[in-house]
Formats: sequence, C-alpha cells, structure tokens
Amino acid sequence: MTIKTCIFDAYGTLFDVTAAARKAAHEPEHAALEDTWPTLAAHWRDKQLQYTWLRAVTGDHTNFWQITQDGLDWAMEAMNLNDPGLRERLLALYWELDAYPEVPDMLAALKADGFNTGILSNGSPEMLDGAVESAGLEELLDAVLSVETVGVFKPDTRVYDLVTARFVSPRDNVLFVSSNGWDAASAMAYGFQTVWVNRAGLPMDRLPGKPTHVCDDLTAIAELARTL
Ligand code: LAC
Repeated sequence: MTIKTCIFDAYGTLFDVTAAARKAAHEPEHAALEDTWPTLAAHWRDKQLQYTWLRAVTGDHTNFWQITQDGLDWAMEAMNLNDPGLRERLLALYWELDAYPEVPDMLAALKADGFNTGILSNGSPEMLDGAVESAGLEELLDAVLSVETVGVFKPDTRVYDLVTARFVSPRDNVLFVSSNGWDAASAMAYGFQTVWVNRAGLPMDRLPGKPTHVCDDLTAIAELARTL
C-alpha cells in the first residue's frame, strides 16, 4: 500500500458550492430565483475560479473571501439582480455550505483504516473552519491547509507543496481528490496520485496531467485508497 494520506479539495469536492443559491431560491423573499438559481450559481463559480487563476498569474493575490464576493457581484450584475439583501444572504450561506451526503462516512472509513486525511483549498482559513465546523467534520480531518499560507492560488505548485511539507510525505504517497478537473490534472502533474470526482459527467480537461482515477462521487474513495 503506497497511499498514506488522502487530501481533498474543499469547494465543489467536499462542499456543494451550488447549495447557497439553491437554498436562497427556496426562501419566500427570494422566490424570483426559483428558475434562475442554477445560472446564478454557475456564473458565480465560474467567475470565482477565473479570478483565482488570473490573480495567480498576475501575482495580484487577495484572499478567497474577497474573490468569492467579487465573483458574486459580477454574477448578480450579469443577471440584473440589484438586491443587497440577496447578496448578503448568499454570502452568509457560503459559510455553511452543505457537505455532500457521503462525506462523513467516507472520511470516517479512511480514518478507521489509518490514513491521514486533510483539506487543501483556495479557501481562507476562516472560511474553511466555518465550512468544516458547520458540516461537523472537525474530528475526521488531520489538517485543513489553506493557500493563504503561501499567498497564491492553485494550481501554483507551492500550494501542493503544503501537503508534502505537512505530512512529510513523498508525492506519490498522497491521493489527491478533486471535483475540479484542472485541479486534479495539476495535482497529477505535480506527482500525486489523483482522483477526479466527475459528478457532472464533464469531458476530461486537456491539460498535461491526466487523473489516475475518475469517480462519480466520493463513496468509493476509502476502498480505492486501500488498493493503491
Ligand atoms: C478549492 C477550490 C478550487 O477549494 O474549489 O480549492
């Protein structure tokens, strides 16, 4: 068994980033979002990610909470949603996103098998603490690693270095799990073993790294880690 440590991306992988817009849309005061919330969630996520990549390239770093607000402001303006109350509500919901239902059991199975577990995320430490606490995952994670330690976003390799430093681990003893195709590809190119969690059935990204494994969700991660 070569895998000792299983590391998870946070947003989109452990936590459902569409949950904020979906929940708001089901509240009576935001009923106008009933049909359009998936578009709002998609614009918000797309811009959030684009801003991380652009700021990593230009060296103009700011924290992920600012990026999250900037992405939402773009998305709301694009959809002519001039509603400060809705903005405030969506941002509040982002601090307590739902974990995908299989997450607690999957992490518990990894811990029972003796694997190290952790998060490696663009999120700020405060955002990650909020999400981990609200999902009740504190006891199931050995480390919550934030890019804020190195001041640059994924896929800069200094971010993936945080894992090998924290667990004093060769790269190929790490199983890195991400629902973001570009993140899984970049971690693969870095030298981790990787799982791309392709919930949406998307084509594989045309990037240098090709993830070792592809899953529909996180259910089989512990079983997979045991075989590697
Ligand atoms: C993260 C983003 C990429 O959690 O979802 O790092």
